[in-house]
Amino acid sequence: MHISWNPPSISPLPPGIITLDDHERHAEHMLGAAAHAYFAGTAADGLTHAANRQGWRSLTLRPRVLQSLTGGHTRTLLQCATLHAPLLLAPVAHQQLAHPDGELASACAAAAMGVGMVVSTLSSIPIEPLAACLHDSGGLPPWFQLYAQPHRDDTLALIHRAEQAGCAALVLTVDAPVQGVRDAERRTGFVLPPQKQPPHLADLPNRPWPASHAEAGLCQGVTAHAPTWADVEWLQKQTSLPLWLKGVTHPQDACRAQDLGIHGLIVSNHGGRTLDTMPSTSRLLPQVRAAVGADFPLLVDGGIRRGTDVFKALALGANAVLIGRPQVFALANAGARGVAHMLRTLRDELEACMALCGCATVDAIGPEHLE
Ligand code: GLV
Repeated sequence: MHISWNPPSISPLPPGIITLDDHERHAEHMLGAAAHAYFAGTAADGLTHAANRQGWRSLTLRPRVLQSLTGGHTRTLLQCATLHAPLLLAPVAHQQLAHPDGELASACAAAAMGVGMVVSTLSSIPIEPLAACLHDSGGLPPWFQLYAQPHRDDTLALIHRAEQAGCAALVLTVDAPVQGVRDAERRTGFVLPPQKQPPHLADLPNRPWPASHAEAGLCQGVTAHAPTWADVEWLQKQTSLPLWLKGVTHPQDACRAQDLGIHGLIVSNHGGRTLDTMPSTSRLLPQVRAAVGADFPLLVDGGIRRGTDVFKALALGANAVLIGRPQVFALANAGARGVAHMLRTLRDELEACMALCGCATVDAIGPEHLE
């Protein structure tokens, strides 16, 4: 059955936006205080968020010169699909709080740039039109991020919905059994407007929301049921889709996931939004890579704002990176065009970094390019 979707609006990029940090600065004016508190906010003192950014910045590059760059490109293979650059849009929730086109704009941008998109359980727009938009625009099928629900039949309903929509993978978030301490949200009194309830949850038979939602906090109603390893094993039996775990940072957890036959891991501290004072993902990634070996699929997110950051993540063993907050800042600034500009900027910067380090392809990037 063909699912129709409304093309997103086309708005100009505001003048003066060149970098991802420019997007962030400008978005503060576009979002309004409450939505800005939600998207830009961190857990507690924001130390992990700051460490994420600082971690990439403080790694230094060791370029090689006089390498042939003939036939160079930024393409990479992930789950047998070709990404035009090693980038995926992270599963950021509630994107219509940033722009009326919400995730549809992000999907169009991902398709235009040939990169991946992970759609959140808490997406403002259902998976079906997003998958149709990606398909009709020549993009890659989306992946679906899953929050385990208090009732397993609800979790199953979400899985079946993602499968039927043509998703290429499931991503179980395992680092947010409860919401982090979000001071900025509390200060602004942020609550999700009742008309912005995520459609994936509103359609569930047992409806975990909305009764106590406003009192419970934004993610609490969803994440109050903390998944365990037993749930992961159960989940594996419910789907033939590749299953990824997002938020694995301890090498022992990584090995356990690998032993269970999990397809891949996303090394993530939830952008510093859950447990403050965790190490940066630039420190965690090499530990996880060392534990799982060279060939196990690993993605990373948190604080990536420059092509050099992407390059460094690949040098430390990531196959690709996810982009969270910059996606939503760019969306707030200029809808689909903003997100496409953000992705294009990262890709161009990565390309420049690769050329300057003597790497014609992403496979050529390795730890020897870091000091
Ligand atoms: C949800 O995943 C959040 O970080 O708010």
